[in-house]
Amino acid sequence: MPWRGIIHEYGELIDLPKTSPVITLLEGGTPLIPLPALGRMLGKEVTLYAKFEGLNPTGSFKDRGMTVAISEAAGRKAKSVICASTGNTAASAAAYAARSGIPCIVLIPQGKVAMGKLAGALAYGAKVLQIQGSFDDALTMVVQASQKLAIALVNSLNPYRLEGQKTAAFEICDALGKSPDWLCLPVGNAGNITSYWMGFKQYHQLKQTGLPKILGVQAEGAAPLVVGHPVEPETVATAIRIGKPARGEQALEAAQESEGGIIAVSDDCILDMQKSLASEGIWVEPASAAGLAGLAREVRENRLTVDGQTIVTVCTGHGLKDPDIITRRSPPIPILAPVLSDLEEALRG
Ligand code: F0G
Repeated sequence: MPWRGIIHEYGELIDLPKTSPVITLLEGGTPLIPLPALGRMLGKEVTLYAKFEGLNPTGSFKDRGMTVAISEAAGRKAKSVICASTGNTAASAAAYAARSGIPCIVLIPQGKVAMGKLAGALAYGAKVLQIQGSFDDALTMVVQASQKLAIALVNSLNPYRLEGQKTAAFEICDALGKSPDWLCLPVGNAGNITSYWMGFKQYHQLKQTGLPKILGVQAEGAAPLVVGHPVEPETVATAIRIGKPARGEQALEAAQESEGGIIAVSDDCILDMQKSLASEGIWVEPASAAGLAGLAREVRENRLTVDGQTIVTVCTGHGLKDPDIITRRSPPIPILAPVLSDLEEALRG
């Protein structure tokens, strides 16, 4: 049977009122792509996969949570939905809201959202508002607005978002027949790490799939969970440019309970790993390279050995979301006259 979207595929494991309609774009069912060259760099007989969440309908993992959150909002006849976003949540909320016919409002930090995300939110018809502040300021505003104005909040503070996002853990266990030894992923507002841990625990209880160690990775300039207090965030990985994660406590619990950890890596380290992933044919946005960048650094600096182990790195968003970061950092592209001699010259050089 063709893939039916996460609500139909995992229905009874997702806590969604039975009376809700199913608003779906057939999200989920994303591939676990082997990364043999990068696996060899990590150690002997390492089996490394990317869970490529950039292949969801709007290009990020957010679609898993949004199908459930928007279905629930539609079920209780919400008049409109609202979220704060570094971009991907905005595009995803806009798409699912459009699908359900509910108006969508998104608040984004001015000048800090990658073009592919902003364009997505506009294309799907959301009302986009820029805040002169960070994601954290925008989140505070939408929480207040949702309480005062009776607009449904679809940030990951909404528990239905987690219900959807946890299905990625189910899919990984289904594909491998068990949980991996390690799961590494980027951490921003900390909804996703919380969801994965929920999902792995639920599946283990049901099917004895085992539990992975979870390594959450923040950007050094936006690492409140590593430094232990809120920060004024700054990083090239704008998706995770967050200084006060709403689910920070749960992220720390997931890391601790799973015997993993939460660490931070530099922007250079993130961009280097973005390049390395692309060299195996997987182009992800910068934030999505953070998980593996962190794990690789721990191995390189001898804090971790992963010989013989199975590792999944969650690639949360597609590279097409943030094309500027690539073009800005590349050398100028040669311009040729339309003659063969120019081409020959260029190929010699
Ligand atoms: N990777 C990408 C590509 C993201 O867009 C985000 C979060 C994360 C990782 C981190 O996930 O917040 O659950 O810890 N993006 C949110 C947004 C904040 O508004 O799109 P998290």
